[in-house]
Amino acid sequence: MAERPIVIYGDPVLREVSEEVDEINQEIKDLVSDLTDTLKKAKGLGLSAVQIGVLKRVFIIDLSAVDITEKLRVFINPEIIETGDPVEFEEGCLSFPGIYQKIERPARVKVRAKDLDGVTFTFEANGVAARAILHENDHLSGKLFIDYLSPMARSMLKGRLRKLSKAS
Ligand code: NI
Repeated sequence: MAERPIVIYGDPVLREVSEEVDEINQEIKDLVSDLTDTLKKAKGLGLSAVQIGVLKRVFIIDLSAVDITEKLRVFINPEIIETGDPVEFEEGCLSFPGIYQKIERPARVKVRAKDLDGVTFTFEANGVAARAILHENDHLSGKLFIDYLSPMARSMLKGRLRKLSKAS
């Protein structure tokens, strides 16, 4: 399959709600393959289907760059079933090139999802992995990391966001 262009902030698709995957067919396998190629090329930690313009509840995370014991993980129809206490940490998003902001998110997460074989699994993560899962999961309901910023931080970013959305 192939690398696909990443949707940049300003494109209204990023605010859309993604649909449940009914069946893990070839179309979904191809989608995951495209997400994988696109994420590798972009050297990111996670990517959701909506970020390549596909409104399906699918995301991948790949923390192998920060943890060699990690591998690429696929989450289909994910559900967050538990979260821990919030911590503040710097975060970015491939749909917001060059923008990094400190935001609060739970330090721990328990998620249930299906893998590419259609097998339901639960996965518990903390630290960067928890943050990546929660960030990507938000994309599936049209929520973006800048939504967590204080009105003050948001207004300081206004000019840069406007520039991004004009370029997209
Ligand atoms: Ni993102």
